[in-house]
Amino acid sequence: MTSAAPRPEPTPGRPEWSPSSWRAYPALQQPDWPDRAALAAVEERLRQLPPLVFAGEARALRAALGEVCEGRAFLLQAGDCVESFREVSAPLIREKLKVLLQMSAVLTFGAMLPVVKVGRIAGQFAKPRSGPTEVVNGVELPSFRGHVVHSDEPTPEARIPDPERLVQGYYQAASTLNLLRAFTKGGFADLNLVHLWNREFVASSPAGQRYEALADEIERALRFMKAVGIDLEHEPTLHEVDVWTSHEGLLLEYEEALTRTDSLTGEPYDCSAHLLWIGDRTRQLDGAHVEFFAGVQNPVAVKLGPSASPEDAVALAERLNPRRIPGRLTFITRLGADTIREALPPLLRAVRESGIPVVWACDPMHGNLLRTPSGTKTRHFDAILEEVRGFFAAHREVGTWPGGVHLEFTGEDVTECLGGSTEVREDQLDHRYETLCDPRLNGRQALDLAFLVAELMRAR
Ligand code: PEP
Ligand code: CO
Repeated sequence: MTSAAPRPEPTPGRPEWSPSSWRAYPALQQPDWPDRAALAAVEERLRQLPPLVFAGEARALRAALGEVCEGRAFLLQAGDCVESFREVSAPLIREKLKVLLQMSAVLTFGAMLPVVKVGRIAGQFAKPRSGPTEVVNGVELPSFRGHVVHSDEPTPEARIPDPERLVQGYYQAASTLNLLRAFTKGGFADLNLVHLWNREFVASSPAGQRYEALADEIERALRFMKAVGIDLEHEPTLHEVDVWTSHEGLLLEYEEALTRTDSLTGEPYDCSAHLLWIGDRTRQLDGAHVEFFAGVQNPVAVKLGPSASPEDAVALAERLNPRRIPGRLTFITRLGADTIREALPPLLRAVRESGIPVVWACDPMHGNLLRTPSGTKTRHFDAILEEVRGFFAAHREVGTWPGGVHLEFTGEDVTECLGGSTEVREDQLDHRYETLCDPRLNGRQALDLAFLVAELMRAR
């Protein structure tokens, strides 16, 4: 890897792509940095720092997503809505990983298919917002855009964007990724420990008990294989897993500064994470985000909300996957439980007709936000499940592969989403409501959902 200028891929009718060519296009949802010189100095420092991930890893994820694209694997992408600069510790990372491994075990066992595990982690710091301001305790303030931009403290001074936080975000991503690599390659993710991933507050719930039974079955299967003479000790896939990182590539100065030329292929990769996605609010075809991600060779995803037309989807697919590489592009739909059954099939048909391979994933979170009468932002488990059901139904109708799910969860016992088999009621929301942005599934609700998704996959 070097930091030399990458070789651009010329796009017909456009000036040549370069890591900075996005600057000629409008970039929505950007912080109003008060000191551009300070921002430029931070960019220069980031440019000198080592990449967080390697191009070869991003290619390996692209290949794994290629398997999803072909219907031979399933994608589980999940994590926080936004990571906090305050909450970075080994226990918090470990608990998130446990739930991800549990969900993945349930899905793998349920569908008998490999599960590609991608965290919204180690860099998921920046948020697009519906409005430029928000009202906190009766005071109107600039909307909170993530700790990588400013503090969430409810004062006007605290909300002034500070580019120094981009560097802090880089180092927090590095330490999170370091621990994630240690946990996933150093024994913690060993399938022989499948029982250990069940936490106390989860284990006592119906989903937790169901998980215990499944873990018993996995153990029995392992013992059987050992008994017939299969050498499990030397089978690396039992002892290590790949957990890939992803975040919304919102702050393009940061993404540009972490873009490196791969020494093997000479191609540019955004080395801030394995997979980057473009949010529903920044997916304009002539916008800066699409321009930037058209040129880097990582696997990329785009969120498609209710305003996305079939023509938009096809145009995005042509722009972002002109070489038609399976696994290069994922569409994450977030249409809402009430609309998905009508809105998704036309998108699926149009993209299939274009012949451009894409992975389809379902984000059942962002189309189902609601506010309680007292104003708390929440989501109901039933609406989340209903959107997932609609996703499977739409794919069955069209004959396409329901490739995966994209969720917001935490390993903790929070009360942010309503419902679930151990029901969170409206009057309980304030018990442990800790999210900095959107409401997340707690560990029990996430496992509940994994079992229900596994059933839908089995029913196919
Ligand atoms: C998110 O994933 O947290 C998000 C803001 O999503 P969307 O772009 O789909 O609204
Ligand atoms: Co969110």
